[in-house]
Amino acid sequence: MAMQMQGAEEDRVGMMRQLAGNMVRFGWYSGISWLADRASARAGDRRPKVVHKYPVPSRDELMQDLRALFRADAALVRDGLAVADGAEPAGGLLDHLARVRAMFADIGDAAERRQSGDTDTVKDYADMSGVPDYFAQDFHFQKGGYLADESARIYDVQVETLFYGAASAMRRMAMRPIAEFMAGRDQRRVKLLDVACGTGRLLREIRLQYPAMGLTGLDLSPAYIKEAQQHLSGLRRVAFLTANAEAIPLPDASQDIVTTVFLFHELPPQVRRQVAREMARVLRPGGQLVFIDSLQMGDRPGWDGLLEGFPQRFHEPYYRHYAIDDLDGLFAEAGLAASGETTAFLSKVMVRRRV
Ligand SMILES: C[S@@+](CC[C@H](N)C(=O)[O-])C[C@H]1O[C@@H](n2cnc3c(N)ncnc32)[C@H](O)[C@@H]1O
Repeated sequence: MAMQMQGAEEDRVGMMRQLAGNMVRFGWYSGISWLADRASARAGDRRPKVVHKYPVPSRDELMQDLRALFRADAALVRDGLAVADGAEPAGGLLDHLARVRAMFADIGDAAERRQSGDTDTVKDYADMSGVPDYFAQDFHFQKGGYLADESARIYDVQVETLFYGAASAMRRMAMRPIAEFMAGRDQRRVKLLDVACGTGRLLREIRLQYPAMGLTGLDLSPAYIKEAQQHLSGLRRVAFLTANAEAIPLPDASQDIVTTVFLFHELPPQVRRQVAREMARVLRPGGQLVFIDSLQMGDRPGWDGLLEGFPQRFHEPYYRHYAIDDLDGLFAEAGLAASGETTAFLSKVMVRRRV
């Protein structure tokens, strides 16, 4: 009884820590975002005025939703489904500040790339031979595309700046469906694959919560995999595969859970379908897919203008189609049946079961 009360007290403290951590992150990245906008304007970046056909939410609405996301994130800790503040700052404060500096140092170049509309600069920074054409682009005007070390180094800071510090909390929304799947299961017998693991942020959250689960991260970029390995160092081993998600080098029905976060909006339509088929192939029957990516048109009709504006501000060549793609149909065709769906701030979480 005393131990139970102590556990509940720890969960409450963890929840408050998580909430406080998110508020600090929000303040910090809002400040960075403000400064980055100014630095960009000083560098001569005249962003096109976004033309809205669809409605955009008010600042109050956005803030209300952000608070709801942070509450949902804190509830994960309260309910014992995630470890408090597992991800920030990844390599300590000094390392974080160095990355923020590196992001600012890139702003002038990024402004130039945006103004010139030249999104084929990647070959100047990284060897793109042997990767598919759609991958060999500088998404969101990053320098060198996904294969460049510098891009991997500043990615987390860029993404958190874009989402005002809410990216980690959106990713962690995978933890509840994972916990639901895990109920009554022995984690030592469960295998999870994170497709397009990037710098390993979600994998770290999962490893902290499930120290004995068999974890694999897959990404096409060795530079991002290297970051992920560093990010997970000191924790129990995670296997990494440098590979294309269109041809996952794992046997059929070998995984219990597949996760994928912020990938599909960067894939051409046919590639999305192929990757869905591959994720379904490696899942065991009854296995679970947890998919997180941007909201789509109509998910929150009052917010459609935001989705319309995003590809006008950033180089996201496949986002417009993603925003209207039939993900339900695409997953169903791949043999993945609906098992839950929700929105979380600017993202959606889709849960699917392998039939
Ligand atoms: C926007 S990032 C998302 C990374 C990470 N999941 C996250 O939560 O931040 C997209 C990632 O997808 C990877 N990627 C893109 N196309 C891929 C493909 N065909 N196969 C494997 N990885 C791919 C990129 O290298 C990059 O790490």
